[in-house]
Amino acid sequence: MRKISKAQLIAAALQAREKACAPYSKFKVGAALQTEKGKIFSGANVESASYGLTCCAERIALFHALTSGEKDFTAIAIVARVDGGGMPCGACRQLLSEYAPHAVVLVADSAKPKVIKEFTVKELLPGAFLDFPRASA
Ligand code: THU
Repeated sequence: MRKISKAQLIAAALQAREKACAPYSKFKVGAALQTEKGKIFSGANVESASYGLTCCAERIALFHALTSGEKDFTAIAIVARVDGGGMPCGACRQLLSEYAPHAVVLVADSAKPKVIKEFTVKELLPGAFLDFPRASA
């Protein structure tokens, strides 16, 4: 990983987690995405009274980075208060497969941030749906 250490990226995710808007589940998640050039884009989960509109921390961080013009990502840190660390949901795995396929996924329990688990996006979502055949004119 270039410039930013794993501990620093986890620290950024912990800081982002503080900004989670989770009045319904009370389950706060923070995510921090590192770009190839060493910038960090973070996010936290945002919930809605219309539950299905809720957006995960990972996607908030990813959308933040993408709509800031970033395209190349080397790592994403995800923190939540779960023993062993909270794993990204299927929807986030899909988006990471499309937009950050080479990012290292770092996962930690927010209560034990020094214990970091590491995954590849490919192992979290093998055989991801990445394209579809378009009808010929
Ligand atoms: N959540 C995330 O932010 N990331 C995940 O990968 C799983 C779930 C959030 C969504 C919701 O606000 C809360 O956790 C409970 O599902």
